[in-house]
Amino acid sequence: MYKPACRLLAVALLMGTGIAAHARPASVPSAAGEIRQQAGGIEARLGATVLRVTALTDAIIRVRVARGGTFPEDASWAVPHDVRAKRAAVTPTSDGFRTDALVVKVDPKTLALTVTDPAGKVITADTAQPIDLDGTAFTLRKALPIGEHIYGLGDKTGGTLDRRGKTFVDWNTDAYGFDSSTDPIYKSIPFFIGVGGEGGSYGVLLDNTWRTWFDFGHKAADTLAMGGPDGPIDYYIIAGPTTREVVRRYTDLTGKAPLAPEWALGYQQSRYSYMSADETRRIAATLRKDAIPTDVIWLDIDFQDRNRPFTVDKHTFPNLKQLAADLDAQGIKLVTIADLHVAAAPNQGYAPYDTGIKADAFVHNPDGSVFVGPVWPGPSVFPDFTDAKVRAWWGSNFKAFVNDGVAGFWNDMNEPSVFETPTMTMPLDIVHHVASDDFAPRNATHAEIHNVFGMENTRATYDGIKALRPDERAFVMTRASYAGGQRYAVTWTGDNSSTWDHLRLSVHQLINLGLSGFAYAGADVGGFTGGPSPELLTRWFEIAAFTPIFRDHAAKGTPRAEPWVDGPEQLAIRRRFVEQRYRLLPYIYALADQNARTGDPLMRPVFYDYPDAAAATCDQSMDFTLGRSLLVAPPPKMESPEAYDVCLPKGGWYDYWTGQAVIATASGEPGTPVNEQIAAAPTGDAVRLTEHPALDRLPVFVRAGTILPRQPLVQSTAETPEGPLSLDIYPGPDCAGTLYLDDGHSMAFERGDYLRQTVRCSTDANGNLIIDFGPRDGKYRPWWRQIALTVHDWRAAATVTGPDGRRVAKRAGAAAQTVAFTIPDTASAARFTVSGAVR
Ligand code: GLC
Repeated sequence: MYKPACRLLAVALLMGTGIAAHARPASVPSAAGEIRQQAGGIEARLGATVLRVTALTDAIIRVRVARGGTFPEDASWAVPHDVRAKRAAVTPTSDGFRTDALVVKVDPKTLALTVTDPAGKVITADTAQPIDLDGTAFTLRKALPIGEHIYGLGDKTGGTLDRRGKTFVDWNTDAYGFDSSTDPIYKSIPFFIGVGGEGGSYGVLLDNTWRTWFDFGHKAADTLAMGGPDGPIDYYIIAGPTTREVVRRYTDLTGKAPLAPEWALGYQQSRYSYMSADETRRIAATLRKDAIPTDVIWLDIDFQDRNRPFTVDKHTFPNLKQLAADLDAQGIKLVTIADLHVAAAPNQGYAPYDTGIKADAFVHNPDGSVFVGPVWPGPSVFPDFTDAKVRAWWGSNFKAFVNDGVAGFWNDMNEPSVFETPTMTMPLDIVHHVASDDFAPRNATHAEIHNVFGMENTRATYDGIKALRPDERAFVMTRASYAGGQRYAVTWTGDNSSTWDHLRLSVHQLINLGLSGFAYAGADVGGFTGGPSPELLTRWFEIAAFTPIFRDHAAKGTPRAEPWVDGPEQLAIRRRFVEQRYRLLPYIYALADQNARTGDPLMRPVFYDYPDAAAATCDQSMDFTLGRSLLVAPPPKMESPEAYDVCLPKGGWYDYWTGQAVIATASGEPGTPVNEQIAAAPTGDAVRLTEHPALDRLPVFVRAGTILPRQPLVQSTAETPEGPLSLDIYPGPDCAGTLYLDDGHSMAFERGDYLRQTVRCSTDANGNLIIDFGPRDGKYRPWWRQIALTVHDWRAAATVTGPDGRRVAKRAGAAAQTVAFTIPDTASAARFTVSGAVR
């Protein structure tokens, strides 16, 4: 609640931060209460504090506060220079400015900022005490209206998807053994999205790398506060009004995740550690013998000599190149770990140390000596990744591994984790050298650099691999990162545990990572610590099959967690879900292409595409979508056999497994289990239905209006599918599907070597179903020669005619519920007509 006394105090505090008059830029009016227009925005001064608000685009504004009248340097690790340099056309107003999408007002008496849409609906508004400065520390306060929910902030824990009512700290931390209330953990992505306010969804990126904090109505229910101990007061407000627009714009600001190699979307097998080349070969052989489609095997730290990065244990892995080649011949890529901590091993012929010392590549103690701290290799030194020269040196270390055919690299422990110290990281006064982007070359303390250290580590790796293998897509996995880190690496949620609670938590973490730019994210399937029960591991396989990164990984000393460990019945279920994943790859890969172009996450909260879903009364805490078309509804209480209700948003849905339309039964009553329902056309209303959990069933639904591409089963993305591409048509509104294809690994798609095609369906006035193949974009030639179409929920006789008017297929009776027909590949615009009524 606003209290006048507080406000006076705040103003007094602001005025008390004044700088000497001579330091004030002459052009800035000195009296409180003045607002000055400038290119793309305004500047307002209150005492010695200056607020600068600039519109980068119609819907993105940047807010900077100068303590003592001087702005810190205009540089950023998150937002590239050319994006920060953008200016939208603005129209000055008496108390601010407007763009085509926003009205920005500043109260000159408090510097309180209000952003509304052109109709005056509030998108976000400061409280009456908006800025507190306390030495180098700062606090910003905004109103948190009733009904607004908060998402994003990367993979923060918290037990729910919604972050409202909670408080978080950004400080990258090796959080081994974390649980659903541990904070901080590995990543710092100081970006959140407010959803449900009167002006629609909006996002805020607080671009400050220090130990920042966020309070979403925790201390005061109606207040959203954020702050930090030091560093620039520099943040962006991103307007929607939809969540989709906010996420897309956030990735305009901080960058899109580059299109991943297709193999990164396959099943990945890992363990800490596969101890020898022989064991690795046995794992590959078992995966193939048990027919578990697989694309990647990971080598953890034990493949190295004494855990030293950029070495190989020659006793256990005598010929890495041969191993990589042999696995490659089976369609399996090798990803190896490459941690940042270089062993402090002078005079031992350990090149990463020797060349690093020569290049002055490691961070220093305040007294100028090189900082040494213990990690996996024992005493270690830490590259100075904020220096572009050091990044280039780091990148050159990958040469031998790239030559050996290692497909991707894993940057772990890059918070950075340091053992045997209570802070679990390096001291705050460690000296980093900043020489990068538009930062002026200077030294910086670890307190400033800590949260970007991991991201700059992955940047060095990504750039290094790109330099060595320019025409291949680089695959880097990271544990720590910062806003914008999606430009360089995919991520996983670190050392989770083998508990049901962690499986639930992983769904929230992956959704929030996707909303925070990290579209490619996974959690260790089965849990890293502990050892999963057979049921838990099976459920984890089922759910992870629908998440972006699908990697089974487990800690040293835990029971084995490969898919076959619990016997043939569990294996059969797990295999079935891995197989579904591979059949769905044409759909998932098209989502990856969509992500690279727009920023739309692969895995999403249901409200991303169905904003009305929030109003439903079911427990939706485990629901998510994979793209717009597939809605996955795992049991909210997974360990319990209790029935539960699923609420499907308006628009109509089909059961993924049966292809039958889903309808509510008696009005107002929960529906009967979907597999017992009598299929009928989706009504378009929201549907509530009851599910009875069974270990081998994961409820998945398809949006009515989907054209879903799937492929024949392969054991690896390296294998060419045999047979036709299938297109399943689930009639409904806004009916469409997208085909995207390229060679899956090179950069040739950037030179036009891709295939993109939209297929649509609609119903004409006579009740015929019209299927329209759009023109094909790009010059890539697909593997399929034929397309097998299945129209679901078709209960009449049917005749299918092709573009030349000739009959393609005919079905006499109404007994079947689908119409299936196969056509030659259709590379140019073409129309097919299925005659009769949709049911
Ligand atoms: C860290 C990682 C884990 C890895 C282990 C050994 O704990 O989070 O995934 O297996 O280090 O490298």
